[in-house]
Amino acid sequence: MTTPEHPTPGFSTRAIHDGSVPDERTGSIVPPLHLTSTFLQDGIGSFRGGYEYARAANPTRDHLQTQLAALEGGSAAYAFASGLAAEDALLRSVLRPGARVVMGNDVYGGTHRLVNRFYVPWGVRLDVVELTDTDAARAALEGGADVLWVETPSNPLMKIADIAALADLGHAAGAAVVVDNTFASPYLQQPLAHGADAVVHSTTKYLGGHSDLVGGAVVLGPGRDELAESVGFAQFAVGAINGPFDAWLTQRGAKTLAVRMDRHSASAQTIAEHLLGHPAVAAVHYPGLPAHPGHDIAARQMRAFGGMLSLQLTGGPAAARTLAEGTEVFALAESLGGVESLIGYPSEMTHASVRGTALAVPEDLVRLSVGIEDVADLVADLDAALARL
Ligand SMILES: Cc1ncc(COP(=O)(O)O)c(C=O)c1O
Repeated sequence: MTTPEHPTPGFSTRAIHDGSVPDERTGSIVPPLHLTSTFLQDGIGSFRGGYEYARAANPTRDHLQTQLAALEGGSAAYAFASGLAAEDALLRSVLRPGARVVMGNDVYGGTHRLVNRFYVPWGVRLDVVELTDTDAARAALEGGADVLWVETPSNPLMKIADIAALADLGHAAGAAVVVDNTFASPYLQQPLAHGADAVVHSTTKYLGGHSDLVGGAVVLGPGRDELAESVGFAQFAVGAINGPFDAWLTQRGAKTLAVRMDRHSASAQTIAEHLLGHPAVAAVHYPGLPAHPGHDIAARQMRAFGGMLSLQLTGGPAAARTLAEGTEVFALAESLGGVESLIGYPSEMTHASVRGTALAVPEDLVRLSVGIEDVADLVADLDAALARL
């Protein structure tokens, strides 16, 4: 939403208004939800507003895509059935047999599984590297690459990669630089502004924000028209589209992203600081802690440090499992980014698929998705569960 008084509206103004124009016929403030598979044609090939068939385009999905492109500062966005469907559409747009993917060594397990189990058997080479080490990244990219896959903050170890530095290295190697921005959300971090070519999201998480939908998105940076066109074609031709009701829920959720992320971040910071000195806790991984190795880079490229953190227990894997099963407000569940707090044991839950690979996560690790409940209740819940170890 651009007006003469506000040529560059703020984040929340865009979140609330971009893609959410009141209905022309009725004035309904919230655009209607288009639950339809097809559209009336006034003559053969004469479409109203360009709408023909809902796999190709649906107004509700278009509204969400407009909103997401505005929030990431992108030129185009495409919404998919899940985060992995979004990742797959992007990868199949770029990769051919013989292509090479360089990926960070701490990413969502399903992302590694997608490349390792589907694309590698089709002749794609996958190399996993420590992306927080710029020299290691440079060395890995020396032979050239087609995709540099960056996740920052990473899942579940909360590693921070320098997006601008990696974008330069990736481009020099001829790679499309992709950032999974799921943990940060576009409110906290905008990778396209730091030089990335494309951003992917599991909109299931912070963008939706209420644990009531599954979705994903690819947002392309300005000037990436060719890539945008092929991702759009993959959405249409492969068909893993975001359904209209999920798109409508995602758009509604994303309107409150900024206020939620501020609260998630403040509460996670309080919890990280609280856990730091606890005798049952061996390590706290949260980029908002000054001692975190990526703190300075995160402070540079993020607005705040987000709602995710992980911790390692002095009591080892047994203590981690007991803690994950021992909280009451934090619910034991996969996923993240909702208003309710969740606790998980990554090595057997979100990252079970990377056991025995270079991405295997420590077995004494517990991951927290800090929700927006009263932080005193969250701290008390963790304290009580830690006391029972
Ligand atoms: C960082 C990250 N990226 C991508 C995904 C995949 O998203 P989805 O579960 O919506 O397919 C997840 C899921 O947990 C994730 O945590």
